[in-house]
Amino acid sequence: MFLLKNVRYKKILDIADLLIEDQKITCITGESGSGKSTLLRLLNKLISSDSGDIYFNGEQPSSIPSVSLRRKVLMLPQTPVIFPGSVRDNLLIGLLFTGQKPVDDPLMVSILDWLHLHVDLDSDCEPLSGGEKQRLSIARMILIDPDVFLLDEPTSALDENTEQNVIDQVAQYAKEKGKTLIIVTHSKQLTQRIADIVVEIKSGKIISREVLRP
Ligand SMILES: Nc1ncnc2c1ncn2[C@@H]1O[C@H](COP(=O)(O)OP(=O)(O)OP(=O)(O)O)[C@@H](O)[C@H]1O
Ligand SMILES: [Mg+2]
Repeated sequence: MFLLKNVRYKKILDIADLLIEDQKITCITGESGSGKSTLLRLLNKLISSDSGDIYFNGEQPSSIPSVSLRRKVLMLPQTPVIFPGSVRDNLLIGLLFTGQKPVDDPLMVSILDWLHLHVDLDSDCEPLSGGEKQRLSIARMILIDPDVFLLDEPTSALDENTEQNVIDQVAQYAKEKGKTLIIVTHSKQLTQRIADIVVEIKSGKIISREVLRP
């Protein structure tokens, strides 16, 4: 899926060799400031490396138009992005941005229910809590249906129980649908529960890559 060779980005990342496998759940851990979000941004082509090679299914992201890459490799940033408007607007906008047809209300409602987000499609997003906004942006991501989900500490705004439910569900969904999941997380429990592979970053370098579930 992704292969990185001698990839450098500023003084932030220096990755000699990293393989991220297709249809696996890879958890990325490491202390604050170690370069985890920067790595996800490289994979999603929000930034470009200064040197080295990155391959996505054998192709260099630099040769893939950004819009088509992001249709396949979608990043959920550390702080959820919510647009002014209703819950429905926020769900449909992802499909619009990726050039896909809108879906009907029952499908949107079923995804919200599945994420235990009990809000009306017509309600305004502004007053939603941080955790609700996060689940809304996860619902938007599920509708866009990328091949690779890049989740940057997706549950930092959720309480422990909700976190378990939401992420376990996303993990189960990824397995059922053959998606590739790359999750930045500080949670050892989450990692033990869902990760196939754990990658640890320190000061921009990969210091370990452990296979938990081959
Ligand atoms: N655009 C940038 N220009 C210069 N330095 C940056 C830039 N973006 C991030 N950094 C620095 O790069 C380092 C890694 O940042 P990054 O956000 O990738 O860390 P992180 O591992 O995601 O941390 P956290 O766990 O706190 O989210 C930090 O020292 C940060 O200050
Ligand atoms: Mg980060």
